[in-house]
Amino acid sequence: MEAALKKLQQLFENNRRWVEKVTQEDPEFFKRLSRQQKPEILWIGCSDSRVPANQIVGLPPGEVFVHRNVGNLVVHSDLNCLAVLQFSVEVLKVKHIIVCGHYRCGAIAGALSQARLGMIENWIGHIADVREKYSAYIDSEPDSVERENRLSELNVVEQVINVCSTSVVKDAWERGAPLAVHGWIYDVADGLLRDLNCCVTSRSEVQALQPVPR
Ligand code: CO
Repeated sequence: MEAALKKLQQLFENNRRWVEKVTQEDPEFFKRLSRQQKPEILWIGCSDSRVPANQIVGLPPGEVFVHRNVGNLVVHSDLNCLAVLQFSVEVLKVKHIIVCGHYRCGAIAGALSQARLGMIENWIGHIADVREKYSAYIDSEPDSVERENRLSELNVVEQVINVCSTSVVKDAWERGAPLAVHGWIYDVADGLLRDLNCCVTSRSEVQALQPVPR
């Protein structure tokens, strides 16, 4: 039992099979990737195991720079997220930042419930703030699943706004770098992505963003 716990043998076997398959299709694949990464996309998504960035958009290693946390949050004091943003925008020069939320998100459900959840309450409190901000809109939805869905969507739009108000993104736009910030949502129930149509490519567009009537 202990040996199995320590080894995870199956994963190494999977890995070797994957390397064989990739190399068969493209013998230069790993050699090429070892030289540099040049992704055009930064993905900011939820840690949820059902929402693996590369897999759901069908992109191979090297194409997506990824940051994931519980609830796909962009918090202005989160050094981890800010470092990812700065590196991807200023060094890798990504052209797209995708904030991707998902339906049936535990963090969203947690923020909507009154349950005590321990330490994580302090993190998903950022989602509770979104809920507070749009409470009239969310509370007007009688169905509890729909309420969660609306909050999932609004949380994405709010994080798009947060990305746009970082110094990193403002500086990029000021120097004329082509940079679009997108808000998407993924449904774990059907595997499909939906565009929330809140794409922002300049400072002025951020101010015009009005997700729902308040
Ligand atoms: Co989630």
